[in-house]
Amino acid sequence: MADIYRESPLKSIGWEDFVGLPLEEKGRYFLRDGRPYHVLIAQQFERPTLERLCETATRTRRIAKTRGGIRFLQDLLFDKRAMLYFAQPSTRTFLSFYSACQIIGIKPAEVRDASTSSEVKGESPEDTVRTFSSYFDMIIMRHPVGGFAERIAWLLSNTERPVPVINAGSGRDQHPTQALLDIYTLLRSFEDKGGMEGKKIAFVGDLARGRTVRSLAYLVALYPGVKQYFVAPEPLQIRGDILQMLDKRGVAYELTRDFERIIPEVDAIYMTRIQDEWDTADESRSIDTTPFHLRVEHLRKLKPTAIIMHPLPRRKEIAPEIDSDPRAMYWRQVRNGMWIRVALILYIFARESEIDRYYEDLIS
Ligand code: CP
Repeated sequence: MADIYRESPLKSIGWEDFVGLPLEEKGRYFLRDGRPYHVLIAQQFERPTLERLCETATRTRRIAKTRGGIRFLQDLLFDKRAMLYFAQPSTRTFLSFYSACQIIGIKPAEVRDASTSSEVKGESPEDTVRTFSSYFDMIIMRHPVGGFAERIAWLLSNTERPVPVINAGSGRDQHPTQALLDIYTLLRSFEDKGGMEGKKIAFVGDLARGRTVRSLAYLVALYPGVKQYFVAPEPLQIRGDILQMLDKRGVAYELTRDFERIIPEVDAIYMTRIQDEWDTADESRSIDTTPFHLRVEHLRKLKPTAIIMHPLPRRKEIAPEIDSDPRAMYWRQVRNGMWIRVALILYIFARESEIDRYYEDLIS
């Protein structure tokens, strides 16, 4: 097994220099031996790694269908412990990481409420997280402050005990592991429909403050010929930095308010809820989002081969009656999230080739 506690590339750069780098240039500081070590931003991924992660996720879930396979998986990382530090609410991301740890034998622990930690005694969040690194082999963290996970990764990399940091959602900027599960869902869904190339994907809802879309738009942009639609009321439209990234990569996109028009055109609709937890003066209340809801009558207009996605949680933007439509993928996304996170952790600890060996034996 590769030693992951070698010197981090983040040790070679000061914080001020690092934080000012373009996102695409930051990625190499999060790698070890060409594989993700810290997982902090979608921009650190390229297609070969994405597709390797997806393959590992699919192989692992097949291995887990047998009792022997379950025992094999539980032995893989039995010597590791993970801290799940969630300073913002979460159901899916927290539980899928927790379950992922259990599947591969990692012992998970949690801090979900900063009021139970010594932060209430005035300890800085940085010191709190550094303390975790004394007891755990990995930190999986969700935090309201954008870029905080990057700061922690840099900080820990400059200590005697660096451990991998996974960003499980930061501020309004990034949710890279949600983007991984979304790409996994897209690739699986389009596997027998000609693949990703040439598909049309619509992102709908609060795109200004939704971190899942911001991360996923980048990963989708890695697939040639995919057109992205951003469908939102003007105050919630996608921000300029994402459009600049798409322009730089030569990706076709369209901004529109006309949800009705694009429903029959697209191959995937990625719905999102209004993110009013970021309001400063109750501004969401004055925005009418009902024209951006997917209703049962829309299903007739949607291509038979199209898929409906949502990172969840939802409010009223997808009628529950739609859940039973075979094109609804959001409950599959929930399950895919656990398996892609299993694959990601195995990859970080350089254990994915053991999955390959077990899988080859299983199918031979
Ligand atoms: N999709 C997602 O991040 O859900 P949670 O907020 O429940 O983790």
